Amino acid sequence: MRGAMQPVSRMACNGAGFLPIILLFSHTEHAVMSDCYAVIGNPIAHSQSPFIHAEFARQTGQDLHYRALLAPRDGFTSAARQFQAEGGKGMNVTVPFKEEAWRFATQLTERARLAEAVNTLQFGAEGILGDNTDGAGLVRDLQNNLGFSLSGKTILLMGAGGAARGVLQPLLAQRPARLTLVNRTPARADALKRQFAAHGEILACGYAALAQPHQLVINATSSSLHGALPPLPETIFTPGALAYDMMYAKEPTLFLRFAAAHGASRLADGVGMLVEQAAESFTLWRGVRPDTAPVIALLKSC
Ligand code: ATR
Repeated sequence: MRGAMQPVSRMACNGAGFLPIILLFSHTEHAVMSDCYAVIGNPIAHSQSPFIHAEFARQTGQDLHYRALLAPRDGFTSAARQFQAEGGKGMNVTVPFKEEAWRFATQLTERARLAEAVNTLQFGAEGILGDNTDGAGLVRDLQNNLGFSLSGKTILLMGAGGAARGVLQPLLAQRPARLTLVNRTPARADALKRQFAAHGEILACGYAALAQPHQLVINATSSSLHGALPPLPETIFTPGALAYDMMYAKEPTLFLRFAAAHGASRLADGVGMLVEQAAESFTLWRGVRPDTAPVIALLKSC
């Protein structure tokens, strides 16, 4: 059903309104009692989140139902409210609704407040909690999966849009030696530098001002989506550097190909981050942390 919100499966949800069904058909209690979650976005058909959360649920023995929900571009709030009213426990939020979800939440975690974007909602009696697990997902992928400790490293973060904003504070919290934020429009990098000043030092610049090589270069621009390459100098990677593209695609992105050709010795795309941010959401909702390694391996083998 393109362009319209998909209906929620009432039988699978645990809303107060379904109590009579539970009482009447106690033999179906297992299916009726499953907690409902969804990822909401537009488009959404490509989303791997239902697969990832189904794997997490299977692995941890959690009884839940997780689906993809397509909302009209102007219909996020009503779709989220309807999902909540029908018993939904939580949602992941993806493009283009993360900023709207930030305004929709009635309470925010500190990292979501700073990111000005929410990718995880939790519906509770006290209200709607908004969190942003993207930065934590990136940091976990870098440190736990790729074995790249951020402390004391020189990091170049490319981009000053929502994707960069969402990971800035978690990166700074790891105390890198230097974090340079580069953007095609340098004024946007400057604005973020000022906004995050309390969380650590950021050097902000445009691509023409880049001089020193970096141990980690992260692409948080949307350039890979457009088949474009930010104008990086060829000397931007130290020997042994890690190049990380937050996007992922079947073939290596232009940025990763550029990195391989110009001295980066390690390349990573955003699949690990995708699974790790999902694991953070799952842990918030269910109180149990899934094992991400087998799920990352499954996605990479597809
Ligand atoms: P998102 O929320 O995905 O970060 P966004 O807010 O539109 O999306 O930001 C996109 C980012 O990618 C911006 O930093 C943009 O640079 P500008 O601020 O100068 O527009 C950056 N970007 C997009 N295409 C790019 C390219 N070809 N080269 C360099 N930077 C690019």
